[in-house]
Amino acid sequence: MGKIADTIISIEKSKTSKIAQVDFDNLAFGSVYSDHMLVCDYKNGAWEVPKIVPYGPLMLNPSAKIFHYGQSIFEGMKAYKDAKEDIYLFRPLDNHKRFNISAKRMAIPEIPENYFIDGLKALLKLEEQWIPTKEGSSMYIRPFMFASGEGFHASPANEYKFMICLAPSGAYFAGKVKVLIEETYSRSANGGVGYAKAGGNYAGQFYPTQLAIEKGYNQVIWTDDVHHENIEEAGAMNIFIRINDTLITAPTSDRILDGITRKSIIDIALDENIKVEVRTITVSEVVEAAKKGTLKEMFGAGTAAVISPISTFGHRGTDYDLPELENSYASIFKKKITDIQYNKTEDKFGWRVKI
Ligand code: PLP
Ligand code: COI
Repeated sequence: MGKIADTIISIEKSKTSKIAQVDFDNLAFGSVYSDHMLVCDYKNGAWEVPKIVPYGPLMLNPSAKIFHYGQSIFEGMKAYKDAKEDIYLFRPLDNHKRFNISAKRMAIPEIPENYFIDGLKALLKLEEQWIPTKEGSSMYIRPFMFASGEGFHASPANEYKFMICLAPSGAYFAGKVKVLIEETYSRSANGGVGYAKAGGNYAGQFYPTQLAIEKGYNQVIWTDDVHHENIEEAGAMNIFIRINDTLITAPTSDRILDGITRKSIIDIALDENIKVEVRTITVSEVVEAAKKGTLKEMFGAGTAAVISPISTFGHRGTDYDLPELENSYASIFKKKITDIQYNKTEDKFGWRVKI
């Protein structure tokens, strides 16, 4: 497939812009959308040329398979502006790679790298003015792909849409996060789709998370589906636990998303000579450490959530508070990673990509 230059991505510009109505000083997460979106159709066994069109509703047949069988995947990325208003992405090829891993698992055709990356760059260039500059804000990027082809037969569709929408965004969590260790419901299982960013993975979490919210928590921490004994990840974040000065996180598997923030933190920690253990960590170990006072930190890591410190975890009716630490690992990693993302520091890992 040939390279798609900006010139052959067709662009239909919006006649008006909504940008003047946006309060860039008070952005929530993912709730306002820029003027344009990218749409690319898969028909007759091939991807058509991507189009950038005004952001707006889609026309789909009620029998489109997305509505019935949930064939749908997505990614989460961000674009950052530095002090000179240059624009950067963070490890975008890793998102493309993971998108296709998700696509394969959901029997959706893979999207070529140049469609994903060049399409995104063209869209970001067009929406440059929409990329926030305020500290802590960024342009949240949502690439997604779903079955637009029709049919009630429970089998993969023959038509798909790949799309990218942009949402200038502030923080995902307003403050520290209070989590509940889940022991009844499961997010994923061996041989399942937990490692894919499939829409249904998130829908399946909503009900147990609602129950946790009713009890005063913000998020659920998922444990393994067999014994509910191993800490796995949170709804939209990988989880790190600091016991004494060792940082521990679960190994990725069929059940756990291979987070880009997670693997960046592991590399930064190793570079900072922080001891990292990628291993199974049990709930009992964490509860014991909390009781002994050796549990120093727990935090979530993800593109949307960045690094979100956990203030309290609940387990079998007891709440365990985490200490407030000066120079926490969470604060060190947050600074190191966001300094790279916003081009405030040298990027010795080669993660930053200038648009
Ligand atoms: N785990 C889940 C279930 C997620 O949805 C996300 C968000 O993308 C993550 C972990 C973190 O992944 P990343 O750091 O690549 O955003
Ligand atoms: C992200 O961190 O980008 C995600 O995809 C999580 C999302 C569910 C908000």
